[in-house]
Order: sequence, then structure tokens, then C-alpha cells
Amino acid sequence: MANILDAYKENHDEAVVDSNRKMRVAIIGCGWIADAHMASYLKQPDVEIVAGCDLIPGKAEAFFKKHGVEGVKTDYASHKEMLADKSLNLDCVSVCTYNRQHAPCAIDSLNAGINVLLEKPMCVTLEEAVEILKAEKASGKVLSIGFQPRFDNNMKMIKKIVESGELGDVYYIQTGGGRRRGIPTPFGTTFIEDKTAGLGALGDIGCYALDCVLNAVGYPKPLTVTGHKGIYFGNDPAYYPNHPEYAEKFTTDDFGCGFVRMEGGIILDFRIAWAMNIDTPGDSIILGTKGGLRIPSTDCWNGSIGGPLVLYKEVAGIQTETIIPVQDTPYGLFDMKIRTFLDASKNGTPAPVQASQIIYNQAILSGIATSSALGHEIEIEIPEI
Ligand SMILES: NC(=O)c1ccc[n+]([C@@H]2O[C@H](COP(=O)([O-])OP(=O)(O)OC[C@H]3O[C@@H](n4cnc5c(N)ncnc54)[C@H](O)[C@@H]3O)[C@@H](O)[C@H]2O)c1
Repeated sequence: MANILDAYKENHDEAVVDSNRKMRVAIIGCGWIADAHMASYLKQPDVEIVAGCDLIPGKAEAFFKKHGVEGVKTDYASHKEMLADKSLNLDCVSVCTYNRQHAPCAIDSLNAGINVLLEKPMCVTLEEAVEILKAEKASGKVLSIGFQPRFDNNMKMIKKIVESGELGDVYYIQTGGGRRRGIPTPFGTTFIEDKTAGLGALGDIGCYALDCVLNAVGYPKPLTVTGHKGIYFGNDPAYYPNHPEYAEKFTTDDFGCGFVRMEGGIILDFRIAWAMNIDTPGDSIILGTKGGLRIPSTDCWNGSIGGPLVLYKEVAGIQTETIIPVQDTPYGLFDMKIRTFLDASKNGTPAPVQASQIIYNQAILSGIATSSALGHEIEIEIPEI
């Protein structure tokens, strides 16, 4: 416990967790990632888990039993029914549903006046993201998007390097990556079916690759996208020796790529894969007028880095490379994601991962899907909210 509170102090000078003032929390969607939310909430001294729901009957009840938490209300037929239960007096919800249910659950929760921690990706389409942002604004509540790599000291370092001016003006970014074989089906098909996930590799790991670099350069607005998404492995029954029937269910994407023009003259070149016939399609790189940064790829793109960052500069006419050692992150990233969300909700301070930025991440993912369907470049139009 002490380490979480220390991390909290480091991020918020004046912060002291008031454990007398408990936050009343509920979980919407009690699947795999909800386990990580619960594990972190249970470490917080100022949280009371009071309710949870899942579309699958009995799943929420079994979930809380597994976590050894008693007295949690779970007898709801839908998230709407739970949100309408005024006896709960909810402060916060974690939305841990599959992607297609992110927008309705986040919007309904905000409309009910509840602070929301929404899992990544923000949603599926740009139109949904706009509606989520409108609901956030109308509610005056906190909406944070679940990008826990933001709390990784290496991710912070990438942003610090850009902000230090060492790279000069950034004009080109390459990002993405993927897995040689890594379609996520160990717990069923909610990640690969269009009706539940909406986006495949693009939404699952593509959003992390984008956030890593876009957050570092201050989230410039995307202006145009030309993109492609496709299925090259997921529809092959041989890919799943134990579940050949998954091949027919695979209706999202296992590969996606895009070329994006952004405000400030920055070009973004992006690709992501759940499966591919190579170890990596390349490291992430940020090119600036005074320096370049290499962010080594990993074999499981999930928002971590694959080795030390390398900063390339010309010093007194000599081409140099500086190795930035991998930084330890002494606190759990998930714990920080939960703690900073609670902190913002309690104090009415800005969300740690702001939807007003992540809408640009979503606009790129959604823009790739639209451009791919149309077969040409599209302009990204985001209304004033
Ligand atoms: N941050 C991370 O590290 C991380 C890791 C894995 C997954 N995720 C994200 O978390 C989300 C869920 O992933 P998962 O692996 O837990 O999926 P999952 O399929 O295991 O669980 C989702 C659950 O939500 C339930 N659900 C869907 N709509 C609902 C609704 N309206 N009301 C109540 N319950 C509803 C489903 O029945 C299911 O039990 C995805 O969006 C995924 O991208 C994040």
C-alpha cells in the first residue's frame, strides 16, 4: 500500500488520501480486464466497491466472489438498470466492456453524473468519440481513458525528450509494431468479432502505439488519413488448431496501416499487426530538425519499449548516439491508472488521460477504417465540442 501512496504524492504535491471519504465504485463488464481494475481498487484505502453488472447472467456475481468481495449488488439486467439504482450513490465506474459497448456505457454513466474510467480504445468510431466528449462536457464529471502505459517512466521520458527541444521541430513519426503470432483469443472471441470489438489489432494494440508518440508530441490534430485494414491470418482455421470455428467469427482486422497528415506539418506513418511473417515491422522513430529518437519495438506491442531509447544528434559536426537507459517504474501501472482517476474524481481535477486528446487517437483508427472501406484518402472532420 505504501508504495501506491508514495507514487500518488509524487504526482500530486498536496495530495493526501482521505480514507474517511470513501469513493463508491461500480464495474460495468466483469471480464478479463475487470480483474486488473478490481485488484487495483482493492489496494486503495478510500474505495468501496458497491456494484457491478455484466450482460452474461451470473458473471458479475461470480466475479466478485472470485475477488472475495462481499455485499456487492449485482442483480441488474443491464448497465442502465444499475446506473438508475440511486441507492448505490455511485461516485465512479470502470467501463470494462468490449469496445462496441464503450460508448453507450460511458455516455450513460456520465449522463447519470458518475465519473468514468473507460478502457482503451476509447470506442470504435469517431462519431461515438464525439458523443462521449459531449456527454463528458455536459456532465462536468471526470472521464479518463485507460492508457496505463502513460504512467511508465520510459513513456514519460519520450515526452520529456521531445519537450526538452533536443529533437528540434518534429516533422515525421513512424510508429506501430505487432506480434508474429498473437491474435488474442485465449478467453473467447470478443476481440475478433466485429459485433463486439469493432476494431481488431487497430483498436487493441494500435491505440497504444499511437498514444506513445502522439502524447509525446502534444497530440496534434490529424487532418487527413489514408489507411488500410485487412485480415490475413485470422480467417484461417489452421491458425486455431483447437478452435477452427474462430476463423469464421474473425470479422475485425489483424493488420492495419495508415499515413496521416497532422497539424504542425507532422507526418505519421503507422502500422500494426496481431500476426505477421516478420519479428517487427520496425522501431518507432521520431524525426526532428535537430535530433532523432529511436524507440525500440517489442515482440508484443502493448505499450512498453523493447530496450533503451537512442537519441541521434550532430554534435560539433560529429554524428552521435546517446543511449537513454531503460527507466524503472517502481509502481504498478494499473495501480497508477486507478489511483490518478480516483484522485481526479475526488478533487474535481482534470482527468489523467484526457478524452479531448484521445479523440485524435480514435479519429486516426476510425479514419483508417473509413479510408480502407472507401479506397482513398479522407479528411478528418471533428466538430467543436
Ligand atoms: N488496459 C489494458 O491493459 C487492457 C487489456 C485488455 C483489454 N483491455 C480492454 O478492456 C476491454 C474489455 O476486454 P476484456 O478482455 O475484459 O473482454 P471480455 O470479453 O473478457 O470482457 C468484457 C465483458 O463485458 C461484458 N459486457 C459487454 N457489454 C456490457 C454491458 N453493456 N453491460 C455489462 N456488461 C457488458 C461482456 O459480457 C464481457 O463479460 C476491451 O475494450 C479491451 O480493449 C484493456
